[in-house]
Amino acid sequence: MAVVGESAAGGQPDRLAMAEGDQLRADQPGFGVYVHWPFCAQKCPYCDFNSHVRFGGRDGRSGWNEARFLSAYLRELQHFRALTGPRRASSVFFGGGTPSLMQGATVAAILDEIARLWDIDADAEITLEANPGSVEAGRFRDYRAAGVNRVSVGVQSLVAADLKALGRIHTVEEAKAALKIATGTFERTSFDLIYARSGQDLAAWRSELAEALAFGPSHLSLYQLTIEPGTMFEKLYASGQLVVPDEDSAADMFEATQEITEAAGLPAYEVSNHACPGEESRHNLIYWRYGEYVGLGPGAHGRIVTDGGRLATVIERHPETWVTQVEASGHGITELEPISRAAAADEMLLMGLRLREGVDLHRLTEVGGLRAGSDAVGRLVEEGVLESVGEGRRLRAVGRGRFLVNELVRQISASFVTAGNVAESLT
Ligand SMILES: C[S@@+](CC[C@H](N)C(=O)[O-])C[C@H]1O[C@@H](n2cnc3c(N)ncnc32)[C@H](O)[C@@H]1O
Ligand code: SF4
Repeated sequence: MAVVGESAAGGQPDRLAMAEGDQLRADQPGFGVYVHWPFCAQKCPYCDFNSHVRFGGRDGRSGWNEARFLSAYLRELQHFRALTGPRRASSVFFGGGTPSLMQGATVAAILDEIARLWDIDADAEITLEANPGSVEAGRFRDYRAAGVNRVSVGVQSLVAADLKALGRIHTVEEAKAALKIATGTFERTSFDLIYARSGQDLAAWRSELAEALAFGPSHLSLYQLTIEPGTMFEKLYASGQLVVPDEDSAADMFEATQEITEAAGLPAYEVSNHACPGEESRHNLIYWRYGEYVGLGPGAHGRIVTDGGRLATVIERHPETWVTQVEASGHGITELEPISRAAAADEMLLMGLRLREGVDLHRLTEVGGLRAGSDAVGRLVEEGVLESVGEGRRLRAVGRGRFLVNELVRQISASFVTAGNVAESLT
């Protein structure tokens, strides 16, 4: 992939310096490109992501016409370039579905087109999500040659019986082998685990997490199992055939996760994401800091800023409908909605309160034209659910507040006053 220009990046920062200023500045969240690959080899019973299974093709898994899909991705990228105008991208993320089912040449062609359409930082983060069941060393080398420099592997569990119960297509050994290939191929590797699984207790999770940390990861995504509407797990749960740890046990596991990862040098920088300082996912930080991102491919969402203001974009979810629509009109966008400044402020709060660094209040004012009312903030700080940090420049959720982000947003949003009209503000 061709890159242009030098990044503004300095060395990798420590957590506090990160908010003070360099490539990861909270007040300059950057611009990223998200590419959604919608196919999986098998549907996991807990998952409500936009993922589809197609049988047929050479390897019995790839029942899609990859050349046709590639042409559609390239056309949709061109459409987005016309909407955004010139920008400098600091990250690209191939998410899914299972992007590790893509051919290396497809990933290369998409990255080349992104670099042709926008400027790309010389040290841009280019991530691809991989399922251990579809990891092959040769294809990983192709991804690296294409420009991918970070992979996120969906390990989910290191317990054989639990992988089966999660409906995963791979074994523990295959997951470990995938991590070995990933770390041997890419500069940066992360992996995902799901906890609060059926039959799992605190002691079992503590030892599984210790085993995971023994691999020496620099980034981990640790998700509490969510029973998502419309999934097979929801049906099993509703009928009593699936029992998961109760709220208190799950909360204990969450607290243990914070304590264990912190001690291991990978503190949470977001509710479910842990990293060594400087190893945070720059792409996901763009979302949480309410930056700009193009989202293309079936079901992707985006937030872009145009001359007409901030826009929310949503793409057609069904893969074949999407590809047909792109062929007919150059894009699969089904919603292109202006976001009012007040709605943008709410969205920014909702995302930013997930972060340990919190929400940048100056940027909140810049984006929404609003300030949080000092009475409401003061009350929440007194209740111990909100904290003012960085000499009053940021607000973050703490204690119980980390589980009550929606309620915090509601209360802060109700207190919003128009910036400029009010002398009294938090800062
Ligand atoms: C797109 S998948 C990652 C790549 C690949 N599809 C895979 O599963 O290996 C994103 C991640 O979301 C997490 N996830 C999906 N559904 C979840 C649920 N219901 N509860 C908790 N985590 C979930 C899993 O950890 C999964 O790895
Ligand atoms: S492989 Fe990943 S995206 Fe596909 S169904 Fe399973 S969890 Fe969802």
